[in-house]
Amino acid sequence: MPARIRPYRAVTDESWATSFLEEHLGGRRQARRRELTALGARPSGRGTGTALLAALVSAARGLGVRRIWVVTTNDNIDAIAFYQRRGFRLSELRVGAVDEARRTLKPALPVIGQHRIEMRDELKLTLLVSPR
Ligand SMILES: CC(C)(COP(=O)(O)OP(=O)(O)OC[C@H]1O[C@@H](n2cnc3c(N)ncnc32)[C@H](O)[C@@H]1OP(=O)(O)O)[C@@H](O)C(=O)NCCC(=O)NCCS
Repeated sequence: MPARIRPYRAVTDESWATSFLEEHLGGRRQARRRELTALGARPSGRGTGTALLAALVSAARGLGVRRIWVVTTNDNIDAIAFYQRRGFRLSELRVGAVDEARRTLKPALPVIGQHRIEMRDELKLTLLVSPR
């Protein structure tokens, strides 16, 4: 059954959202380009990430937004594939950005990430949103 997407409600969602971030994304504070954001889906591989992204694109289109960018880390091969399969293009490499975030914003960031790759850099991917 496809995921049903609805807006985040701080009062009722904060508790599980905090647990989710702790368990699956390494903590509540998601450091990306000196901002704090997150995209996650569990269990994975069931279309939830695709549905979340479709909802985001639809909302962006409604607001007249023409460009969406996401940032992931150099070890996150699955996310890099996921975004590219959905039209995102690699648009920036920020060498050492994870090292900097670990030093300044989020000391708990692990050194070894997915696929036993050292987490050191950020990759920005950009999607051009076509008008309706
Ligand atoms: C990246 C992420 C958001 C994707 O969400 P998802 O619900 O797994 O995405 P979907 O199910 O819609 O699609 C996953 C793709 O992987 C495939 N897949 C199959 N089994 C899978 C599995 N066990 N785990 C992951 N992906 C799987 C799916 O078939 C699909 O392939 P496609 O790209 O060819 O369509 C999710 O894996 C996640 O939360 N990852 C950890 C956090 C993260 O990395 N966030 C992004 C950082 S910016």
